[in-house]
Amino acid sequence: FHDYDLIIVGAGFFGATVAERAANQLGKRVLIIDRRSHIGGNAYSENDRQTGIEVHKYGAHLFHTPNRTVWDYLSRFTRFTDYRHRVFTSYRNQVFAMPINLGTICQFFGRQFSPDEARALIAAQAAELEGRVPRNLEEKAISLIGRPLYEAFIRGYTAKQWQTDPRDLPESIITRLPVRYNFDNRYFNDPYEGLPVDGYTAIFKRMLDNPLIDVQLATDYFAVRQAIPSDKTVVYTGPIDRYFDYRAGELKWRTIDFQEEVLPVGDFQGTAVMNYADEDVPYTRILEFRHFNPERDYPADRTVIVREYSRFATRADEPYYPVDTLEDRRTYLAYRKLAEEETGVIFGGRLGTYRYLDMHQAIGAALKSFETEVSPRLIGAERAA
Ligand code: FAD
Ligand code: NA
Repeated sequence: FHDYDLIIVGAGFFGATVAERAANQLGKRVLIIDRRSHIGGNAYSENDRQTGIEVHKYGAHLFHTPNRTVWDYLSRFTRFTDYRHRVFTSYRNQVFAMPINLGTICQFFGRQFSPDEARALIAAQAAELEGRVPRNLEEKAISLIGRPLYEAFIRGYTAKQWQTDPRDLPESIITRLPVRYNFDNRYFNDPYEGLPVDGYTAIFKRMLDNPLIDVQLATDYFAVRQAIPSDKTVVYTGPIDRYFDYRAGELKWRTIDFQEEVLPVGDFQGTAVMNYADEDVPYTRILEFRHFNPERDYPADRTVIVREYSRFATRADEPYYPVDTLEDRRTYLAYRKLAEEETGVIFGGRLGTYRYLDMHQAIGAALKSFETEVSPRLIGAERAA
């Protein structure tokens, strides 16, 4: 560890971005370690052995951003396809476009509506609470989109996501439920969207392709921590509660179980993501990975699908979505205080800051952290030496 100017824990987008900047911009020697056997963090993907189809191993990853700086930055390491994400939902043996749009409304209520008619209909249905403050997620959702659409598209899906009746979930989980009063069924509104032409893992290979950067996989920070000199700058993107030995309590997460299957059909569902809104279907959605890359030459007689099951995480599970109750917020603030006192260690990324971050947000946060925290420290160490 003595040879390095910077030690980074975690080879996901946050860690890889900081490593790339420190090496390419400042010429610093970087060691990046990850306890997994691969780079890429949760954005990691690999090609299925039987079919060659690229599978995102930690759930579907769609790149989209409103941030030109992040788009330009990532474009140094990949080209993007013109993929535009769309999501459908299966409900009572029918298929509807998500997010709820005019097409969904016409189909669901069984007739044509103009945008103004649809607005008036949803407003009337959303008035059910008569101005009363929503007391739980169900009431909040009804106040936003009315009961019929809530019961069809939100109730079962949310109950499965949280393994909890929406009447027992806090209203604060949802702040808005987008309804589009036109026929636009693109999932994201961002000006920049696409999938990496050569897949996600190639991005990380290129970011870390510098003789100044060493990558050590299958290495847990806590197993090697004693050997790292105490004056080294460390960027830590693992779970913040784990770093402090859970001394202020455990931060809660949800996880997803992925059930992957290769099927002997050329096209299983005709689209990349099909949500399942019915509560009696145990999974929340099915991904079919070939549809993310229609430009590729994939086999015509086989396909890879993944069913997703959502549940609360234990310490042994992969943490995916922060549960983020008021208690979690308090716990996190206690860790934030400890982190500030931990000089020489910069906490970043989704696990290090207990936040759900999209990829573009993780990259944006890393670029900012590099500029305001990492770079000044590395340059300061240079001056002191
Ligand atoms: P991570 O990618 O989690 O990287 C952290 C790394 O630290 C991991 O590789 C981990 O192994 C390593 N680590 C942790 N502890 C230790 C330790 N003790 N020692 C060594 N290494 C350690 N974003 C989008 O923009 N679009 C999407 O469609 C999208 N879909 C998603 C779907 C799911 C199911 C999930 C969970 C996330 C999704 N995201 C999506 C978010 C995206 O995965 C994150 O933005 C991104 O992973 C954040 O990067 P990160 O570096 O902060 O964390
Ligand atoms: Na710190």
